Amino acid sequence: MNIIDLYEKYDNLYYIGGVVRDILIKMPSQDVDITVEGNAIEFCKNIDECEMVQSNPDFGTVRVKINNQIYDISSTRKEIYPKKGHLPRVVEIGCPLKDDVIRRDFTINALAKNTKTGEIIDYVGGREDISNKILRVLHDNSFIDDPTRIIRGLKFAVRFGFSLDEHTKSLQNAYLSNINYDMCYKRLKDELISTFNLNSNRAFETFVNDKMYKLITKKDFELPDYDIQGLVRKYYKNLSNVWLIYIALIDTEKLELNKTETKIVDDYKKLVELDIKNDYEIVRAFEKCEVESILLYEITKKDGKAIKYLDELNEIKPEIDGNDLKKMGLPPSEKYAKIFDYILQEKLKNPELTKPEELELAEQYEKKLSKNNNDSKGDS
Ligand code: CTP
Repeated sequence: MNIIDLYEKYDNLYYIGGVVRDILIKMPSQDVDITVEGNAIEFCKNIDECEMVQSNPDFGTVRVKINNQIYDISSTRKEIYPKKGHLPRVVEIGCPLKDDVIRRDFTINALAKNTKTGEIIDYVGGREDISNKILRVLHDNSFIDDPTRIIRGLKFAVRFGFSLDEHTKSLQNAYLSNINYDMCYKRLKDELISTFNLNSNRAFETFVNDKMYKLITKKDFELPDYDIQGLVRKYYKNLSNVWLIYIALIDTEKLELNKTETKIVDDYKKLVELDIKNDYEIVRAFEKCEVESILLYEITKKDGKAIKYLDELNEIKPEIDGNDLKKMGLPPSEKYAKIFDYILQEKLKNPELTKPEELELAEQYEKKLSKNNNDSKGDS
């Protein structure tokens, strides 16, 4: 048996949520959610060809292996939000499909498609909203229950070119003018990552102009006059945290950053405090930074130094190395660092320097260092 056989045999299995929306919009899906109208764990237990790999009875979810392929199957479930802005609590597993659907964020994500008949089940007008390119919440408390939905709305607006319906927009504005800062920032961060990794100036403009950014800070913020989307596109292959280039401009204090993300933000804050005067100082300032920090510097300072580093200076490196100095008869010592530093300065002044010329300069400089050392010994 494979999954298709399963779909054809039972009539209580549904594709649910984003995947049905994506089928109707004719977009590829990031993941395929399958739900059983009923209890998925019990359902899978009764099918011999379903090998249970993992199950979570509290959520009614199960991971199964069918014909060597892994599938996640959920139960229909009812949820409530006992603590607004935090994870919901499951109050019923195996509820009617309709109750599972109406707990969701937007009508476009509240569609189900029967896997056997192909019938699309639409209790909330999601199909019409897809045709009209509208994002509509299912009830007036939706953003109060789960403010991450504000960012999800932004993500879907950008991804599909949809807009909020008027009433949904007024609910969003009402929430943003009275934010409950006691919320689960881990979930909010996940949504910020998937939204701003789309690299969209439009998303950032909406985020700032509609005051969504107030979800992450109480401070005020003004949109920088910079084509960030274009800048990111230019250096895209060197970036793994595009989202942070947008969000670190505002405030990341409430977001739990990992080690790399923390370094990006800390380096950016240090960089903008520096008074960088020449090419050598540009290299020394940026050489140990992630490209994200360097771009953040550029967006903030707009002085062209970061771009000069990335496009030009970054490539200029002395050709000689420690082995060459050893061959010159110089035993490894702290002098090495001074010599490489000097050669870098000379190379930045004259990138055409050849390796033999570098070696010659290194030799002269080493003599100068030794002489100074002897002179100062003589003085004492
Ligand atoms: N959902 C919700 N509220 C949230 C997150 C999710 O109601 N805060 C529901 C939506 O019905 C959504 C489904 O859970 O369709 C699955 O969530 P997720 O996988 O995050 O979103 P998708 O809609 O599948 O979107 P994507 O294509 O970005 O994965």
